[in-house]
Amino acid sequence: MVERSELPVGFRWGVSTASYQIEGAVEEDGRGHSVWDVFVERPGAVKDGHTGRVACDHYHRYREDVSLMRELGLDGYRFSIAWPRVQPSGSGAVNAAGLDFYERLVDELLGAGITPLPTLFHWDLPQALEESGGWLARDTAYRFAEYTSAVVERLGDRVPAWITLNEPFVHMVYGYALGIHAPGRALMLDALPAAHHQLLGHGLAASVLRQHGRQVLIANNLTPVRAASDDPADVAAAAAYDALHNRLFTDPLLLGRYPDLSAFGVDLDDFVRDGDLAAISGPGLDGLGVNYYNPTRISAPGDDALPFAEAPIDGVPRTAFGWPVVPDGLRELLVGLRERYGSALPPITITENGCSVADEVGPDGAVDDRFRIDYLAGHLDAVARAVAEGVDVRGYYTWSLLDNFEWAEGYHQRFGLVHVDFETQKRTPKASYAWYRDLIATHRADHAR
Ligand code: BGC
Ligand code: BGC
Repeated sequence: MVERSELPVGFRWGVSTASYQIEGAVEEDGRGHSVWDVFVERPGAVKDGHTGRVACDHYHRYREDVSLMRELGLDGYRFSIAWPRVQPSGSGAVNAAGLDFYERLVDELLGAGITPLPTLFHWDLPQALEESGGWLARDTAYRFAEYTSAVVERLGDRVPAWITLNEPFVHMVYGYALGIHAPGRALMLDALPAAHHQLLGHGLAASVLRQHGRQVLIANNLTPVRAASDDPADVAAAAAYDALHNRLFTDPLLLGRYPDLSAFGVDLDDFVRDGDLAAISGPGLDGLGVNYYNPTRISAPGDDALPFAEAPIDGVPRTAFGWPVVPDGLRELLVGLRERYGSALPPITITENGCSVADEVGPDGAVDDRFRIDYLAGHLDAVARAVAEGVDVRGYYTWSLLDNFEWAEGYHQRFGLVHVDFETQKRTPKASYAWYRDLIATHRADHAR
């Protein structure tokens, strides 16, 4: 039997967060507005009208948060940089005070022995860019590369590896196709240019990072897709969904071409120009970041406009969000990536994995989140099984350090190893925090012997 203690020597342990979900301080030090600042004001957009105005107040409390990370014994911290702090209007003038914050954070991390792993874009596009089309506009890809230059010129000397984008799939679908996230557009399949322009932005930014000799990763939300039955109609629907959710974001990066999207009746030639695929795949990837939460089960559509329908996954536990808990789906995903891409697949880092739990601080002051411990343990075992099957996985960053602003759900879904009381900002490490700390220490000690 494979155990997570068999994860390789040098396996890197981390946690992940994102700027708008934790920072707060939205009006401070010259920060411009992002699409999220605007979206949260839309009536009904976010549960109970919650906003990220204060969030975890991490902008002011980052030292306390880094010391929580130091006590965990982390190798790395994945956080994101808010573009509107760096370029308040999305282009042109750089706001030095915005970069100062990330410099303080990076220096604090390095002082704690933790390697910073910044994500350049985790959904908080400057509102000024949204007003000229957001990611539907090709120009945004070029602006993203320009912003990347400004950031890497300031921090590149201390930060070896960078993640360009977080989950271009979720951003396209939730932000542009369904309108559940900012910028709140409900364009259905007309959202596809937002996928291509994000990927082009990745490629252009990757070139900038390469010119600075830095390593490049991207964090994709990937899911193993299972057909609801052997019926050819279900199998075809599953293949179509797989192309949209997974291959649309990994084929261009790793193979330099788009998957077949004919089931959707869309023509990528409408917005993909000569040279774009080379710009996307050319710089290469030093690592593929994989964000995994659950598998997806797909059946043939009813009378839907889409060529697939989502089918329920029954008989498994569910998180507070209602998402099915299927740890082996992570092994299946990782092994499937290796089978699909072979030697074109770079080393993998799990850049997000975690669950929401309705955590409460008990009368004794403790937070007993056994559900989360089981979730994390099960998924780490699945990673270890994938490694035993030959997949090169280099690290695991759990989502998330802190309970935070969970997008359209506001503060209702708690994903943290550390409980946050949003009235007082008091941080209370949960049982899973101690468990993760001990797991990391044990893994290191086992390999030091
Ligand atoms: C899916 C998750 C996904 C999430 C994005 C959910 O509906 O089940 O896999 O990560 O949306 O926030
Ligand atoms: C996102 C995070 C989010 C998490 C849980 C991912 O889709 O990158 O920002 O909080 O899933 O929904």
